[in-house]
Amino acid sequence: MTRRSDRPRRRRFRIARIFGIAGLLVVAAIGLGLVYLLYPRPVLQSEPIAVETLYAQLESLQPVSAFDTIVEPRLRSVALFEEVGRVLQSPRCMNCHPATDRPTQTEAMWPHMPWVSRGLDGGGEANMRCTTCHQAQNAEASGVPGNAKWSLAPIEMAWQGKSLGDICRQLLDPARSHMTREELLHHMAEDDLVGWAWNPGGGRQPAPGTQDEFGALVAAWLETGAQCPQ
Ligand code: HEC
Ligand code: HEC
Repeated sequence: MTRRSDRPRRRRFRIARIFGIAGLLVVAAIGLGLVYLLYPRPVLQSEPIAVETLYAQLESLQPVSAFDTIVEPRLRSVALFEEVGRVLQSPRCMNCHPATDRPTQTEAMWPHMPWVSRGLDGGGEANMRCTTCHQAQNAEASGVPGNAKWSLAPIEMAWQGKSLGDICRQLLDPARSHMTREELLHHMAEDDLVGWAWNPGGGRQPAPGTQDEFGALVAAWLETGAQCPQ
């Protein structure tokens, strides 16, 4: 009696033991798998990017000779203006050529703080002239930029929000530009208010290249027929 009732219990015990061992093995396998998956190992490194090279390209202008390989004069002229445009569309120029009556500031070109407005002559409202804060030269201690002619570009010369092609056509349009082509070249190549952009002070990023290189590109663009991008 006792032996017969003992037997199934022993078999159940054996089955339970087999399942128990199998279960333990499964749990152990999952555990080992997790350890393997989560174990920290070195991530593949990509080639380091030569940041200095990138910045150097951003900061310099290509010389006029770099465009000699473009045989077709119209295409060469457009390519020259695109290089000129890297200066025109830099924050240093754009901040003073806004689409509204209010200048913008910094690399991000956010609205000028405090609120100032062009006033009647571009030099600010009567009670808040630009020259109240902007002196004849950069104020190194405060970082406030300066030039004796500091004022806002006329609204016909607004560049912000325009394509480079539109800025180009605007420069050549007698209805909106105050300058002949010779005056335009002189202004870009020699004017010291434009030149401020290469010596902006206050830790600001200067416009790319130098004013001389910029002037040479503008001259070459005019000589090749002053063609505009689309
Ligand atoms: C109450 C003082 C004050 C007045 C008035 C003022 N500015 Fe400024 N402006 C500043 C200061 C300060 C900065 C520098 C802010 C900075 O770089 O973060 C500045 C920066 C600028 C910049 C940015 C330059 C750059 O590229 O980052 C422009 C452009 C500018 N002012 C134009 C004008 C014009 C145009 C007027 C007159 C219509 C004017 N400001 C009147 C104080 C003034
Ligand atoms: C502090 C403000 C200020 C900054 C910065 C500035 N400009 Fe101007 N810009 C002016 C004013 C003011 C005029 C109008 C000058 C005049 O009529 O004599 C002007 C006019 C011009 C014109 C004449 C446009 C036309 O259609 O007649 C050109 C070109 C020009 N700027 C180029 C530049 C370039 C390039 C830069 C940057 C390298 C620059 N400006 C930065 C204020 C500024």
